[in-house]
Amino acid sequence: MTQPALSHDASPDLRAAFAAEVRAGLTHTPQKELPSKYLYDEVGSALFEVITVLPEYGVTRAEERLLAKHAADIVAHLPHDVTVAELGSGSGRKTRRILEALCKKRPTSYCPIEISRSALQLCRRELGDIERISIVGYERDYLAGLAEVSKQRATGERLLVLFLGSTIGNFGRLAATRFLRDIRNMLAPGDALLLGTDLIKPTPVLVAAYDDSIGVTASFNLNLLARINRELDGDFPLDAFEHVARFNPDARSIEMHLRAKRDITAHVGAAQLTVSLKAGETIWTESSHKYRAEEMPAIADDAGFVCSHQWIEEDWGFAESLLVAR
Ligand code: AVJ
Repeated sequence: MTQPALSHDASPDLRAAFAAEVRAGLTHTPQKELPSKYLYDEVGSALFEVITVLPEYGVTRAEERLLAKHAADIVAHLPHDVTVAELGSGSGRKTRRILEALCKKRPTSYCPIEISRSALQLCRRELGDIERISIVGYERDYLAGLAEVSKQRATGERLLVLFLGSTIGNFGRLAATRFLRDIRNMLAPGDALLLGTDLIKPTPVLVAAYDDSIGVTASFNLNLLARINRELDGDFPLDAFEHVARFNPDARSIEMHLRAKRDITAHVGAAQLTVSLKAGETIWTESSHKYRAEEMPAIADDAGFVCSHQWIEEDWGFAESLLVAR
């Protein structure tokens, strides 16, 4: 039997949690919102892969260039004998450089932590051929997975946590520091965190990166409503919404919204919800915070790390910061 490409979520628990969060977000006042993690179903993840190769979205390529150029130098600055834990394995393309440089020195364990099983499988396929690597995937959320990896390491072994791709940008500034502190609490002094952050750049460049000319990001955003329609018995009229990307100068973030083009009333069966939007009203779906490289040392310090090194990609504007647990 073949699997349907778009099955309802296999787990009733996850579906119930999705419904509850949709209900909470769409009844939130004054700004309706939806959690950005739900952008990444099978369709959304595939669309994000397309986004990473769009000319307007320089983030992923900048980080790939940075890691390709500096992998040996980054590895030279790491503690010896590290086990690598990656939060969100992604496609594994960027991580390859670091892992190859590490495995050249000694056999290395790599533990991708990822809630999506298919992403873990992809990652194993992508990186499994590296010589002297052993890959152990953890199908868990970030902190639970990290706790387990940390617990299972051999004595004398240090941990290197990879948190790449500017995923930290999805957190607000306070939440980001709190999350880094949570990571720090799973680590021992001397363990390290390599953190990728997209840097602040001129507003038109940022807006174009999140509102590309062929509408892939718009589709990525709209897919969230389509997913609610598919999985939660929703009836959002997709053609009545438009994608909006705007820079919020106070938060220093790009915000993605879905804006109602007319008055809309829709239902979400599984959430027992009827929701109305006025023409022009928006649903806030994602924020992507941008940083200055110079603010990382203070953020690191707040979270219990020392920022020991930084590598900067200047053409696009992306930073890799090495934080060492105090
Ligand atoms: C995967 C969270 C790093 O914020 O740049 C890209 C997601 N959203 N285009 C980002 C995203 C729209 C991306 N992250």
